[in-house]
Amino acid sequence: MAELLPELLAVRGVSVRFGGVQALTEVDLTARAGDITSVIGPNGAGKTTLLGVINGAVTPLGGSVRLDGADLSGRPIFERAAAGVVRTFQNLEIFSNMTVLENVMTGGHLHAGYTLLDSLLRTPRFRREEKRLAALCREKLDFVGLAHKAHLPAADLPYGEQRLLEIARAIAVEPKLLLLDEPAAGMNNKETQQLGAIIRRIRGELSIGVVLVEHDMELVMDVSDRITVLNFGRILAEGTPREIQDNPEVVAAYLGED
Ligand SMILES: Nc1ncnc2c1ncn2[C@@H]1O[C@H](COP(=O)(O)OP(=O)(O)O)[C@@H](O)[C@H]1O
Ligand SMILES: [Mg+2]
Repeated sequence: MAELLPELLAVRGVSVRFGGVQALTEVDLTARAGDITSVIGPNGAGKTTLLGVINGAVTPLGGSVRLDGADLSGRPIFERAAAGVVRTFQNLEIFSNMTVLENVMTGGHLHAGYTLLDSLLRTPRFRREEKRLAALCREKLDFVGLAHKAHLPAADLPYGEQRLLEIARAIAVEPKLLLLDEPAAGMNNKETQQLGAIIRRIRGELSIGVVLVEHDMELVMDVSDRITVLNFGRILAEGTPREIQDNPEVVAAYLGED
């Protein structure tokens, strides 16, 4: 058996309620460093809610979230981002009035080596750091294949490229863990294949752990090391892609649908 990699993310016993809706019940999720860990399940199963619990956007009733052994439970979003957790959104959230590069720089600014005062006074340190950041963000654009569009307004990109832009912005934070919420939604086959290759390189070349929420089963089965299946806010199964595809309960609840 392959040696187990260390746990990067450990979600334990998380429950979430929105008014009368029990969105998650006692959910566990483990993501190991160097793995692509996917979360699948029907619409309304609680996948987006789970990503929100991990990045701090959703407050659970109970349970814990640990990253690299550090307890992030109860910490606000910006602290978790600084600790290494970033996400992308099911409904694209890019700044359409900014250029492609400026969008990525909003991610990179988390690591800016200057103070607010430096930026207001435009000190030499500020200008030096802005240059360094712009170069770093260009690298991230290059990583997703959008470097040649750096100066276009983000709104001018086709939809699939806007999704890649959102990923470039997220990796500009240089996180330990990247949470992707249905990144292939609205992409055609070719774009989805390119996305699969990028997700693998995020793990392999950038050494960023990935938690992928996705409906495209070809993509999920292709890139995932482990898969957790959610159904009505509860864990239905956990395993390798092969184990999940062969699990009769999963096929009945979800995979049988398509
Ligand atoms: N902010 C919210 N307020 C109320 N109900 C919500 C909210 N977000 C999600 N829900 C409900 O929680 C359940 C899980 O939703 P979600 O996590 O978006 O599922 P998925 O991403 O798997 O489709 C659904 O019943 C949804 O309607
Ligand atoms: Mg969702």
